[in-house]
Amino acid sequence: MLRGKHVLLGITGSIAAYKAAYIVRLLVREGAEVKVVMTAAAKHFITPLTLATLSRNPILTEFFDPENGQWNSHVSLGLWADLYLIAPASANTLSKMAHGIADNLLLTTYLSAKCPVMAAPAMDLDMYAHPATQESMDILRTRGVEIIEAASGELASGLDGKGRMEEPEVIVRRIKSLFSRSCSLMGRRALVTSGPTREAIDPVRFISNHSSGKMASAIADELARRGAEVTVVSGPAAVRPSEPGVRIVDVVSARQMYEATVAEYDKGSDITVLCAAVADFTPASPSTSKIKKDGERMELTLVPTEDIAAAIGLRRRQDGVVAGFALETDNAEDNALSKLRRKNMDMIVLNSLRDPGAGFGTDTNKVTFFFRNGDSQSLPLESKADVAAALVDRLERLLGQC
Ligand code: PMT
Repeated sequence: MLRGKHVLLGITGSIAAYKAAYIVRLLVREGAEVKVVMTAAAKHFITPLTLATLSRNPILTEFFDPENGQWNSHVSLGLWADLYLIAPASANTLSKMAHGIADNLLLTTYLSAKCPVMAAPAMDLDMYAHPATQESMDILRTRGVEIIEAASGELASGLDGKGRMEEPEVIVRRIKSLFSRSCSLMGRRALVTSGPTREAIDPVRFISNHSSGKMASAIADELARRGAEVTVVSGPAAVRPSEPGVRIVDVVSARQMYEATVAEYDKGSDITVLCAAVADFTPASPSTSKIKKDGERMELTLVPTEDIAAAIGLRRRQDGVVAGFALETDNAEDNALSKLRRKNMDMIVLNSLRDPGAGFGTDTNKVTFFFRNGDSQSLPLESKADVAAALVDRLERLLGQC
């Protein structure tokens, strides 16, 4: 997928610089041509020789070569690159990028680059969380830089927290996804519901479920990569879409999700995917103060929530497509088909909690698509990203038939 692509890798001074060697190796293995530009501080963490050997190109660190005076033109480097990846990106470099400071070759090249820019921050957790760093990242995001958020885990300082540069495999996957973006859904609007809902019992307790938001986020990201303008109505999910430009409307309860989803749908949606695990019941009268235990049994009266999918089914436009999910344990196919009809959808995606690796929280899913015209298609267990790609392929086809 990266064959012939020109990737310029900027390395700054961070212990994570050693991972840059793996990034270069993976990119070269994928067929990309890689050039590396390093700051002076980066050379303390990894040698230019290592990177030159892996990239098969000389390493650029200075504006000119002190031995022969040869000029390293940041302008032509910026023009050469199809992508400028800065990994690791230190707090110092992020701040300079955000404020247009150009005191080294890596930064002047950033200011000259005409290609997409990605930055993978790496630093200690407090530096990462500092408002100055967060603000620098926000500024860069608004200017179109794709920030590959740091991961959480053990840091070089010995502390544990968010600040580790993402793994090279993840970074290369993001690069591939950037180059695979297409325009097939350009000008289309998409709406996705995501995550669980929380139904309050009292101010400290609620009823919810195990949805992580992974499946819905993969769908939203896939739609965004194909050019759609994507809105996600999300309950309190651990995972959120990572593609830039995806708009997120945060909600908590089923009632709030219902109101937000219907309002967004009424603004116009060509593709609607109802992937949230919405609570079917909510406490009839949540207590406004904490319920005290008194040693007795407690009975909770639950009333049904609004069915969002059914509400969309009632008001649906003929020139858009609507897909839902069915999460089942028993009589899976019959239940899925019944939901498809009752909720007036174009297709339903069945996933069963009986299948290992499918459903809540997993990175994989095993699904069957059922269509309104009676067709169906079963997919093997695969990553949620691949399931999302297959689903969006089918939705695009259905949209073409509207
Ligand atoms: O988030 P993950 O951890 O990645 O897990 C993904 C998932 C298992 C949550 C997802 O793949 C999934 O199956 N989502 C739908 C879960 C669900 O609530 O299924 P259901 O069979 O109860 O509902 C059927 C359809 O009606 C769904 O499209 C649901 O969004 C919708 N619904 C349900 C109840 C309700 N009150 N309003 C609704 O719109």
